[in-house]
Amino acid sequence: MPVLLRLDASARQEGSVSRQLGDHLENRLRLAKPDLRILRRDLASLPHITEATIAGYYTPTDQMTDALRTATALSDELIGELRSADYLLLTVPMYNFSIPSALKAWIDQIVRIGHTFRYDGQTFDGLVTGKQVFVTCAYGAAGYGPGQGFSAANFVEPYLRFLLTFLGMADTHFFNAEMAATGGDALASQIEAAKAAIDTALPA
Ligand SMILES: Cc1cc2nc3c(=O)[nH]c(=O)nc-3n(C[C@H](O)[C@H](O)[C@H](O)COP(=O)(O)O)c2cc1C
Repeated sequence: MPVLLRLDASARQEGSVSRQLGDHLENRLRLAKPDLRILRRDLASLPHITEATIAGYYTPTDQMTDALRTATALSDELIGELRSADYLLLTVPMYNFSIPSALKAWIDQIVRIGHTFRYDGQTFDGLVTGKQVFVTCAYGAAGYGPGQGFSAANFVEPYLRFLLTFLGMADTHFFNAEMAATGGDALASQIEAAKAAIDTALPA
């Protein structure tokens, strides 16, 4: 049974464009894979890593204490979810030219040496392989695409592409809607275009 792990990063439940595109993609994937099992996490309430979490990340397994095991338990759980997934769906708004801190909190919990990547002193290897990744992004303004006027200010897609590839996930598909702050017909046509791109990527 294929597994989709869906992570929502918008602080908004109502009117969220990134979630709306994510819903469309999820429905589309469900049509293509009727036996799909879906794991969901709303990232808004995810705790940040602490000093003890970091200590646990760098402590060899045979030296872990109960306190360190407790401090890394959420990281273990989130990495387990990610490993179990065949598909990963991230729904992501641009906040202040970057990703929401809620998504960064998840990233800090799952990017972990020896678990999701390894380093031999010379090269890094991503250990999270064999997954297809979908990212639905919402931007308030416009012009964030490659070669466009605001592309240098886009620390969402380039960052996520790099990070996901670093971890071993290079099969990554982005679907974007800009002009969320403008709203009206301009936003509606962005959403329609993004949904059409999703339909092309995931034929029914
Ligand atoms: C805290 C905050 C910061 C934002 N920063 C930016 C920004 O830097 N650039 C931009 O184009 N839009 C920005 N926006 C607009 C959002 O990207 C836009 O409203 C988007 O639709 C939010 O995603 P959502 O609809 O899924 O909630 C910001 C919105 C919020 C709430």
